[in-house]
Amino acid sequence: MIKSIKAREILDSRGEPTLEVSMETGEGVFTSSVPSGASKGSYEVGELRDGDGRYKGKGVLKAVESVNDVIAKRLKGKDPSRADYEMLKIGKSALGGNAVLGVSMCACRASAAKEGVPLYKHISSLSREDVSVPRPCFNIVNGGAHAGGGVDFQEFMIVPDKGFFAENLRCGSETYHTLKSELESIYGKSSVNVGDEGGFVPIAKDHKEVLEILGKITDSDIFIDVAAGEFMEDEKYRLGEKLLSEEEIVSIYKEIIDSYNVKGIEDPFGEDSFSGWEKLKQEIGEDVLIIGDDLLATNMQRMRRAKNLCNAMILKINQIGTIKEAIDAASFARDMSWEVVVSHRSGETNDDFIADLAVGLGADYIKSGAPARGERVAKYNRLSLIEKML
Ligand code: PGA
Ligand code: ZN
Repeated sequence: MIKSIKAREILDSRGEPTLEVSMETGEGVFTSSVPSGASKGSYEVGELRDGDGRYKGKGVLKAVESVNDVIAKRLKGKDPSRADYEMLKIGKSALGGNAVLGVSMCACRASAAKEGVPLYKHISSLSREDVSVPRPCFNIVNGGAHAGGGVDFQEFMIVPDKGFFAENLRCGSETYHTLKSELESIYGKSSVNVGDEGGFVPIAKDHKEVLEILGKITDSDIFIDVAAGEFMEDEKYRLGEKLLSEEEIVSIYKEIIDSYNVKGIEDPFGEDSFSGWEKLKQEIGEDVLIIGDDLLATNMQRMRRAKNLCNAMILKINQIGTIKEAIDAASFARDMSWEVVVSHRSGETNDDFIADLAVGLGADYIKSGAPARGERVAKYNRLSLIEKML
């Protein structure tokens, strides 16, 4: 039974305000904190931010109030398993997606404690999936909205496949450090500064130059998050000096798949540019993961419309707001035979909830940035521990 819920304003990894929520039940106190994106899709549930002079308008005191005054009163005395249902009844937009998520994560942790099982086990019983440790996608080169002066594509990830998570982590870390030396020798020291997710930001000419370097230092699979919505102009795509049509950018994707070890492409087109997604799916959908992020927003209505546009989903808990809805979205992805990629946000905290979530959903992959920086490795280190516990 929920005794009390309290929220406060803290800073995330980018130094922007976010929420930390604590819930007290008979089993103890459960604390969670809320991530925030930079390249957000427009179909995500909205964050409640103050819009006043504090923190350049980004303060979250209204969301804190929403937890402390509205949600806490509604949930007091109820079982934590009721929390998502009750908050959905009030309405996420009234409460703020960030307020709702902080409480939802705490409620999930409290329910696990009530059952006396680890969080991943509790989530596995809700999702009815067998637990399994996902393959990590390490974002080792940052561009787009996550870095200044890098390439247009937002993320270049290496995805090792060494059988065990611990081995994948070691491979990711070793490759990260090899890349650091390589970039230093090609571009100089300024190219090993890091972006929001801990990846390096080389002053490379374009994505091909980056892929060429990655091809030299690793034989791991490579996933790219294009985040194409960030460089769209009308229905065209601004890459360097060029403004490309859908057909032209499809041929670029085909070329990099043929030339490099690229096995996954995320958000290759804008979130409403269905014709581009369709073309790409027809051309390469058998061999490569076409991963919807902004396209889907972890939202089942969007996923239904995108049935024939992709074959994998990004699952971000703050895109949808409650853990219940996130678990439902993962089941729906399975019904459509899609792969599931659980993901952090570019603005993170040290909360490692998504590590347990990925294991409990039996997710195929997890994205938590580079194998470096505290808020990124918090998730990877938790996954190592879970692997040992299993
Ligand atoms: P975001 O980026 O968290 O800044 O939205 C992550 C992604 O696009 O996958
Ligand atoms: Zn993305």
